[in-house]
Amino acid sequence: MAKRPNAFICQICGAAYPRWQGKCDACGAWNSIAEEQNAQAALPAAQRTDRKGRVFPLEGLSGASEDAPRTVAGIAEFDRVTGGGLVPGSVLLIGGDPGIGKSTLLIQASAALAARGHRVIYVSGEEAVAQVRLRAGRLGLSDAAVELASETNVEDIVATLSAGRSPALVVVDSIQTMWTESVESAPGTVTQVRTSAQILIRYAKKAGAAVILVGHVTKDGQIAGPRVVEHMVDAVLSFEGDGAHRFRILRAQKNRFGPTDEIGVFEMTGLGLREVANPSELFLANRDRSAPGTSVYAGMEGTRPVLVEIQALVVPTSLGTPRRAVVGWDPSRLSMVLAVLEARCGVKLGGHDVHLNVAGGFRISEPAADLAVAAALVSSLTGAVLPAESVYFGELSLTGAIRPVAHTVARLKEAAKLGFKGAVVPPLLASDPPPGEASLAIRPAATLADLVAGIAARAPRRAPQKAAEEA
Ligand code: TYD
Ligand code: MG
Repeated sequence: MAKRPNAFICQICGAAYPRWQGKCDACGAWNSIAEEQNAQAALPAAQRTDRKGRVFPLEGLSGASEDAPRTVAGIAEFDRVTGGGLVPGSVLLIGGDPGIGKSTLLIQASAALAARGHRVIYVSGEEAVAQVRLRAGRLGLSDAAVELASETNVEDIVATLSAGRSPALVVVDSIQTMWTESVESAPGTVTQVRTSAQILIRYAKKAGAAVILVGHVTKDGQIAGPRVVEHMVDAVLSFEGDGAHRFRILRAQKNRFGPTDEIGVFEMTGLGLREVANPSELFLANRDRSAPGTSVYAGMEGTRPVLVEIQALVVPTSLGTPRRAVVGWDPSRLSMVLAVLEARCGVKLGGHDVHLNVAGGFRISEPAADLAVAAALVSSLTGAVLPAESVYFGELSLTGAIRPVAHTVARLKEAAKLGFKGAVVPPLLASDPPPGEASLAIRPAATLADLVAGIAARAPRRAPQKAAEEA
């Protein structure tokens, strides 16, 4: 057979081109295309046979089926995100920035599973066994019955795994360091990573072992190299946080065996990751109640309410185009809130820089934060301090109306539990069960203008000079 020409493959998204080019048309990345051995030619001979297909029976939708059995680690924050424990034969990909604590989390999870009598194998392609031991020692896990290896060749790994009793969990840290003899490309290339992942996935299905792959992410938050691996695995989790904060959040992005909106919250301590059972308390600690520009947002993450502080700073700009800086929220939603404030409430911020920050390094993904953001912005602009004992939630419509959001009762319950006295909420729906929290004064706001008027009424009397400037 004539040798097929090599392909040029984008190392970010896996798109293939017949010749080299500077920019990938598929994902827009620059200088990401590298020459690789043709993937078709690389297939092992066994997969290239012209075997006739076997006929298999088709089945109906109805019929007996069992819930997937679960291997529970006993770390509640971890088990919740996986959907109630690891499913035997499933493959999970955990992504995160370098140094965020992926290896720490996985060695702790491995030790927890081993302590429950499961066989757990931890394969590190990045660190020597001594380094992994050292970390386990620091975490006080030296006695855990986890079996370690420092290995990067996938064939050797699968041979070793297949030799003994089938493990309940195999951790491969990280998939980018793995390589297989079945393809000739250099380790770390898309073809290597993809083929290695395929081999490990095949092993997982065959042996009924749960496999966790660690993946590095690029600076824009994607799992580096092969996005394709994300499509091959059963679940993709991301481990987030930033170096400046102790909080780490494990978030499900895709899960064939569970919900995708659950989070697990951890705190990085000198003794490894500690579970945070009540994240609201942590996110609201050290709150400055007397400064304008802060509001408390009653949010939901999956089935769990999370209260976080939103901080806004609105200052006159010295630039031609005012600055809009957002940490922890979607910048395009901020633009929308600013536009609605201007168009529907006459609050003009075109001459002001706007900085918005979600305290504690938390990232909000819900539109229900609109109302809390608007409240913080107006508070900062007018100097009116918001009542410290109130929470805010509600989605803003472009007409200036405030729209109801899901889970009203759960949000209010959490606020009452944490000692809040009031809540500014969207108009209640008839279908909403009556909020049974007597300790909470509930103030529905129908429009953003209602909210703005309420806050402006609290504003301190303006200094004469400022009033004159604005006149
Ligand atoms: P690590 O798990 O090696 O990160 P990753 O595998 O995601 O690259 O964690 C590294 C960081 O965690 C390192 O900066 C030190 C910190 N750390 C602690 O603060 N406490 C601990 O007990 C451990 C083990 C690590
Ligand atoms: Mg690591």
